[in-house]
Amino acid sequence: MYRATLADLLLTAACFVPPTFQAVIPRSTMRIVYQFPNKGTWIENVATRSNGDLLVTLLSAPELHSISPLSNDPTQTLIHSFAGTPGITSLLGITELEDDVFAFVAGNATQPGSWSIWQADLRRSGHKHGKASVSKIADVPTGNLLNGMTKLKERTVLIADSMAGNVIKLDTGTGKSEVILDDVTMKPTAIPRFISGINGIKLLGDHFYYTNSFTGKLHRIRIDLESGKAIGAAETVASDLVDNDDFAILENGTAFVVRDNYNVVERVEPDGTHKIFAGSIDSSGMAGPTAATIGRTARDRNVLYVVTNGGMRAPVGGEVVPGRVVAISYE
Ligand SMILES: *[C@@H]1O[C@H](CO)[C@@H](O)[C@H](O)[C@H]1NC(C)=O
Ligand SMILES: *[C@@H]1O[C@H](CO)[C@@H](O)[C@H](O)[C@H]1NC(C)=O
Repeated sequence: MYRATLADLLLTAACFVPPTFQAVIPRSTMRIVYQFPNKGTWIENVATRSNGDLLVTLLSAPELHSISPLSNDPTQTLIHSFAGTPGITSLLGITELEDDVFAFVAGNATQPGSWSIWQADLRRSGHKHGKASVSKIADVPTGNLLNGMTKLKERTVLIADSMAGNVIKLDTGTGKSEVILDDVTMKPTAIPRFISGINGIKLLGDHFYYTNSFTGKLHRIRIDLESGKAIGAAETVASDLVDNDDFAILENGTAFVVRDNYNVVERVEPDGTHKIFAGSIDSSGMAGPTAATIGRTARDRNVLYVVTNGGMRAPVGGEVVPGRVVAISYE
């Protein structure tokens, strides 16, 4: 019951049409790094630590986990659970605030106004994963459906509100938040009400990149890196990425956009052309990709890590698999 409601909320099921895609690019081999023990584990977002560990947030439970993709037999550690904390049922966007201090979004995805931003400080854990001190940064009661998050500058993050179709700036020092970007390209549809617009957000130089799950586009807009305000008009980088979720972007502007119901990762070149990079409509290995990140160590700098919900919105072959971390090398 709960999951159906949650899925309804984040989804665009009404828009889901079986795709007619060209062949998958064969050169990128997919490897399952880690799989949660249970079906119904929806991994929502991911960030990379400088030691190579991945921090993943769950939508299906209010939990933050650490996964060590570089060990021979990758395991996961529960860093923090909000079970029992009133009003927090899910965790969403996550971003690094300063070295080994990560901010993340917590709330009840079906309850506008339930949102708060927290931080997990892993500095004292050194290189062993799993130990963190977790504390609240601020409530964001004006948020409707807070989703992707990225760092703007020292002490300041930007957070996508998928339902309102805008971007909130939060000063993590003072706890003050305000809508800083609001553009038609960020909007969800009005009917039905619960469809996500702006979803994943990333900063590359002074370009703020964002996906819109409803329109299936990747956009960017130049912003002032001090205030976060737009200093140009929104541009469309790529279209025909319906049902996109979050993405990762390389320094040269090549982006990897995941498409949840289509079970694919698309590689989007800076000129906007794109091709399926991994997965396929009937790929249970890549069932329900939700976000992606890039390796940070010498060993995995060429690796894209994709997290999944196991097909909870669109089960592959009628079957949901547990949420996973999948690795694919991109060069
Ligand atoms: C989450 O929000 C829904 C919808 O408002 C509500 O019915 C539910 O009780 C909330 N869950 C928790 C654990 O607060
Ligand atoms: C961007 O970087 C990737 C990875 O190194 C490379 O494969 C790609 O060709 C680069 N694209 C451009 C336009 O330079």
